[in-house]
Amino acid sequence: MNKLDLGVLCQIQYGMFIVTSYFGEKINGQISTVVFQVTCQPAQVVTCLHKDNLTHQFVTTSGSFGVSILSQEADLKFIGQFGFRTGRDFDKFTNVNYKKLSTGSPLVLDHAVGLLDLKVIKYIDVGTHTLFIGELLASEKLNDKTPMTYDYYHNAVKGKTQKNAPTFQTCVTGGHNENKTIGTC
Ligand SMILES: Cc1cc2nc3c(=O)[nH]c(=O)nc-3n(C[C@H](O)[C@H](O)[C@H](O)COP(=O)(O)O)c2cc1C
Repeated sequence: MNKLDLGVLCQIQYGMFIVTSYFGEKINGQISTVVFQVTCQPAQVVTCLHKDNLTHQFVTTSGSFGVSILSQEADLKFIGQFGFRTGRDFDKFTNVNYKKLSTGSPLVLDHAVGLLDLKVIKYIDVGTHTLFIGELLASEKLNDKTPMTYDYYHNAVKGKTQKNAPTFQTCVTGGHNENKTIGTC
């Protein structure tokens, strides 16, 4: 019988990002840990967003997304605003500094080390989430501060994971589709 230890997945390392997009005049963004470069020529970067998220809806309709790479200085309150609340209930950008580059997605400047502005060129339905593949149209390095890793967020910032994150681990027990949380990483 195959051994399946989902805890091993916690050994995969990630960063901390705010992924943003827009719908008409409305702008929104969310925390995502899944942002990585997949090719260089052209430069392509992917993100993975839960289908229930407002940001997912905005990226799907606008065909673009922005990424702010967070620094270690981002605090729990700031991360919580983008990672534990939905933009359906309030404007996440009140008192948040941002700029637009090429696509119209808002790029968060606060607690960021760099900005990416991407056009969606392909997407893959992976069930609960969609994997968006973006071509990099514009980017800007903001400073030399240390980017925050997911590990640092857990161990130094003492942050938790939200249920819509791909890294929020659940398993099916007893064959009755009873979802049981086995832990977060
Ligand atoms: C540490 C952390 C990591 C997260 N990573 C992801 C992620 O990679 N993908 C995702 O879809 N949601 C992720 N989330 C959850 C979203 O940020 C959260 O569902 C957010 O409230 C969605 O906001 P929206 O509805 O305004 O788009 C994460 C949350 C936290 C706190």
